[in-house]
Amino acid sequence: MTENRGTKDGLSIREMRREDAQQLAGIESRSFSMPWSEEDFLYLVTEGNALYLVAEYDGTIAGCAGMRIVCGEGSIDNVVVDEPYRGQGIAQALLGELIREGEARGAGDMTLEVRISNAPAIHVYEKFGFVSEGVRPNFYEMPCEDALILWRRRC
Ligand SMILES: CC(C)(COP(=O)(O)OP(=O)(O)OC[C@H]1O[C@@H](n2cnc3c(N)ncnc32)[C@H](O)[C@@H]1OP(=O)(O)O)[C@@H](O)C(=O)NCCC(=O)NCCS
Repeated sequence: MTENRGTKDGLSIREMRREDAQQLAGIESRSFSMPWSEEDFLYLVTEGNALYLVAEYDGTIAGCAGMRIVCGEGSIDNVVVDEPYRGQGIAQALLGELIREGEARGAGDMTLEVRISNAPAIHVYEKFGFVSEGVRPNFYEMPCEDALILWRRRC
């Protein structure tokens, strides 16, 4: 993908690099009860089927989104924006670019799980054509909660 593909003033979306891992782990720890670690992100940089994008706002890492592409299906396993940067369209910029680049790399149908109470995230996913196809009861811990299973199917 094009490096530093501009989406709006001050915002750029690019592929994740090794040196992002520490800051991304910080955003995770502020955003999730069971956050990914720096090592988790470092591993993803080297994993061949992983596509991870980072949003930089005025040079500061504001969030990331990523998927793994296996057998032509994209499994989105992380979308997060640091709290001070939320509500400015950054998740939508990340997701739009992730879907575009994922399709370019062969992902057709795409799926993800989301906490059933996570209204802002569900709203964003629905804007990109994801629809609910079921519920995984008690999928999440801390706190225990059902997951909504969303799919974005090509046809
Ligand atoms: C979910 C998350 C990624 C959204 O990031 P963001 O950059 O604030 O998202 P955006 O600004 O692009 O879009 C937010 C949308 O949600 C809407 N929204 C905000 N609160 C909402 C609510 N309570 N109910 C429904 N929609 C809501 C906003 O109006 C906006 O939609 P719009 O552009 O149509 O008006 C961010 O809140 C986050 O990181 N949360 C913690 C981690 C997380 O839950 N990740 C998802 C895991 S599946």
